Amino acid sequence: MPARFYVTTPIYYPNDRPHLGTAYATVTADALARWHRLCGDDVMFLTGVDEHGLKIARRAEEQQMTPQEWTDETAGWFQEAWSSLAVTNDDFIRTTETRHVRAVQRFTQAIYDNGHIYKGEYAGWYCVACEAYYGAAELEDGTACPVHKTPVEWLVEENYFFRLSAFADRLLEWYTEHPGVVVPDAKRNEAVSFIRQGLDDISITRTSIDWGVPVPWDPGHVVYVWYDALVNYVTAAGYGVDEEKFARWWPSVHHLVGKDILRFHGVWWPAMCMAAGIPPPHQLVVHGFLLVGGEKMSKSRLNQIDPVALAADVGVDALRYHLLREVALGSDGEFSYEALVGRYNADLANNLGNLVQRVATVVGSKCGGVGPAPRPAGQGGRIADVAAEVVAGARAAWSRFAPHEALATSWRLVHETNAELEATEPWKMAPGPEVDAVLGDALEALRIVTILAAPAVPAAAAEIWRRLGLAGAPDDPGRGAEDGGDLGWGGYPGGLEVTKGEPIFPRRVPSEASPARRSR
Ligand code: MSP
Repeated sequence: MPARFYVTTPIYYPNDRPHLGTAYATVTADALARWHRLCGDDVMFLTGVDEHGLKIARRAEEQQMTPQEWTDETAGWFQEAWSSLAVTNDDFIRTTETRHVRAVQRFTQAIYDNGHIYKGEYAGWYCVACEAYYGAAELEDGTACPVHKTPVEWLVEENYFFRLSAFADRLLEWYTEHPGVVVPDAKRNEAVSFIRQGLDDISITRTSIDWGVPVPWDPGHVVYVWYDALVNYVTAAGYGVDEEKFARWWPSVHHLVGKDILRFHGVWWPAMCMAAGIPPPHQLVVHGFLLVGGEKMSKSRLNQIDPVALAADVGVDALRYHLLREVALGSDGEFSYEALVGRYNADLANNLGNLVQRVATVVGSKCGGVGPAPRPAGQGGRIADVAAEVVAGARAAWSRFAPHEALATSWRLVHETNAELEATEPWKMAPGPEVDAVLGDALEALRIVTILAAPAVPAAAAEIWRRLGLAGAPDDPGRGAEDGGDLGWGGYPGGLEVTKGEPIFPRRVPSEASPARRSR
């Protein structure tokens, strides 16, 4: 039976167009989904938008629109952006959809019926941008949100509380029993220390606004936007309406989340699942921030970069490759246009692109344009051994949620194959078995690396595959499977016509300022 891989991104606030930070998270989830499909796994990839709450209501008001009109428009911006970045989500959830509203009501009702929700009064400092309360001690200079640096507001409300405090022991037990539940490890420790510091009950309904999901047993209240949003992960898995679907996808879920929302996903969400009587999620994969000039790129700081304009400038594959390769998942990384162009020229134009071009040229001049078969592994060729190491290394890195390492490892095969060509110089040899052996190995290395690169650079991989004369597509499901896949040495059959074309990755001269940089 194929393994199951359900991967989610956070659902984004559609209060503006997506920026490069959210594109980073979405492209990362996409690459993981693509890798797992390649491995033959049964995959569901979910992303979407978080439409309720004060932040969206106010933003709509500024636009003189109803929140629904506003999010109907802006949800489309996200869908369009992801499709233009070759993101292959299987589902796109909007929290205003009936399926979600019903799921939130069912989920909250289950928690209420299980006795974990009570009525009380809440007063506190609220950051609208975070849609969260802060304790006085957490505020910057006693007045500002520690994340957004904008003034917080004092809110007093009568509302319902979730008895989070009662779940501390069960959460700690869960963390002990599932040591790998948070990647990377340091983030697991952070989640555990939140819990050890003591958990307060959380206020989970609002009466101050009506833009939200009505509380089923007290419709004067709406469900707090975070409590509503987290449920999206089970809505899309068929919670409460499709038992078979739910059993298929839950709890084998991997939530990719930014480090700023670890507390919601690593403390609240598992406790909410426990309270509703379903198993907590399988894994949280925590990533860092993309920074611009050392600061988090964000809507409130106006330092956003538009990923769609950037991709139109540098190419979709180039942008995807850079996002996946540049920063180790879990760490923060500084984004710069110069670094993107530098890496593009080094890895894509000069390495992979050059290898494709060279091989096609020499196959044209020395083999009449027909690719020779590789040498069997263990019969003289050094590259076969490199390929075996690279495939094992890349596989291990993808399964550790380390796309940057998977790609670095995969590119080792490109480097080594280029080096082998430079050492043997087949372009100087007379046609014959020696040339055939070197080129056959190079073609086979290219075939393998094209499969490995496909999750990052899907369009280029498809084009290389076509030029090698291979049938199907490099990312056909199952090609990367450990058993019965196509990543073993010797899959290139020889005898295929190899096509030469324009450079797949033409070299770029860094332009002074990318048109993608928005100053508003
Ligand atoms: N709506 C909530 C999530 C609810 S999930 C049940 C939310 N939305 S958000 O639009 O503000 O942020 C969504 C994600 O984008 C977060 O994981 C956040 O870390 C990520 N990023 C926002 N800016 C980012 C960068 N500059 N860099 C990387 N990720 C960034 O929170």
